[in-house]
Amino acid sequence: MESPLHQFSKISELLNLFEYEEVARRKLSQSAFEYFAGFAADGITDDSNHQDFAQLRLLPRVMVDVSQRSKGINLFGRKLSVPILAAPMAFQAMAHPHGELATASACEALGTTFILSTFSNYSVEDVCEKVASDIWFQLYVYKDKGLTKNLVQRATQSGCKAIVVTVDVPLIGKRENDIRNRFHLPADLSIANWQNTSSDSLKKLPGDLPDSGLAAYFASLYDCTLTWKDLEWLVSLTDVPILVKGILRPDDALRAIHSGAKGIIVSNHGGRQLDTSISTIKALPPVVQAVNTFDSNIPILVDGGIRRGTDVLKALALGATAVLLGRPLIWGLTVDGAAGVAHVLQLLMDEFDLAMALAGCDDIASITSDLVVQ
Ligand SMILES: Cc1cc2nc3c(=O)[nH]c(=O)nc-3n(C[C@H](O)[C@H](O)[C@H](O)COP(=O)(O)O)c2cc1C
Repeated sequence: MESPLHQFSKISELLNLFEYEEVARRKLSQSAFEYFAGFAADGITDDSNHQDFAQLRLLPRVMVDVSQRSKGINLFGRKLSVPILAAPMAFQAMAHPHGELATASACEALGTTFILSTFSNYSVEDVCEKVASDIWFQLYVYKDKGLTKNLVQRATQSGCKAIVVTVDVPLIGKRENDIRNRFHLPADLSIANWQNTSSDSLKKLPGDLPDSGLAAYFASLYDCTLTWKDLEWLVSLTDVPILVKGILRPDDALRAIHSGAKGIIVSNHGGRQLDTSISTIKALPPVVQAVNTFDSNIPILVDGGIRRGTDVLKALALGATAVLLGRPLIWGLTVDGAAGVAHVLQLLMDEFDLAMALAGCDDIASITSDLVVQ
């Protein structure tokens, strides 16, 4: 079968996701690169997201017929070609003018799901209209309940197949580069979901403060009183499944499910929130154990630090249903728009496919916990 990549004209010769980061670093302004790459405080959590994957050792099986490898999964009744989804990330038009439209269409071409951030530079209506495939919407909850309800309803009406409620950002973590750069959006970009309102404070990040404009935006508009009761309210607003993103503790995972969540995303926001929080691959197994005791059909996704096919294999071995990929998609987008994103995804899929073969796995069910030495 012809690779889905054939429809993109320029295929990069870069060999792995780290090489994409290096090229993107040279193309982006310092402020944009540091926003995308950034982390909270000393970057200890961001580092351990990577190191804790690297430190896990694999115990491969041999003498298994791996001539056919089936990598597809079902999520909420829909088939994905691989267990790798695109994490929600804000302001993608800072990386490439086609922004979220490009990332979403690359995901569509490769048969996977794109999660659109509340803080996208293309609106949910625009992305869902132009890209036919599976789109999920990531929700930040505004203090103004009317605004929040409006977002949930628009995402549902536009055809989003799930809503991801991010719960690890009551305030923005201390991202020192963004403070130093007084990070704000370039004048031609806005938070497109509010492009039709007259309120600049909703659609722009303040640029005139000695601080990160994103931190100031959150502090003034985001609802940091959010509790599990509010999740019940959000669930009541839509018929599509709600997943909760930003879970690190088993008790919180169970609370989310008892409040109506249909899926859990184990995440520390790529180390951008509370520095020295546990890495996600370490947080995953207790969450899996708790959730599976309650209902083993609830999908558990994980993100943070996934850069190699072996990382995907390890996450699945430790009980994840699928992983989300973050920053490397931004690097692909910067380097070559939709083609770059598609190539980044293809590289990771190919590495995952090879890792399955070398570990003696012919399908997802055969990726079991005994493959990983803790
Ligand atoms: C530039 C950037 C913007 C992000 N924006 C959002 C967002 O709008 N909503 C959200 O829930 N998470 C956001 N995240 C967190 C990602 O969804 C994801 O949890 C994290 O990037 C995964 O780690 P990785 O980048 O190491 O793969 C963002 C991350 C980055 C790097």
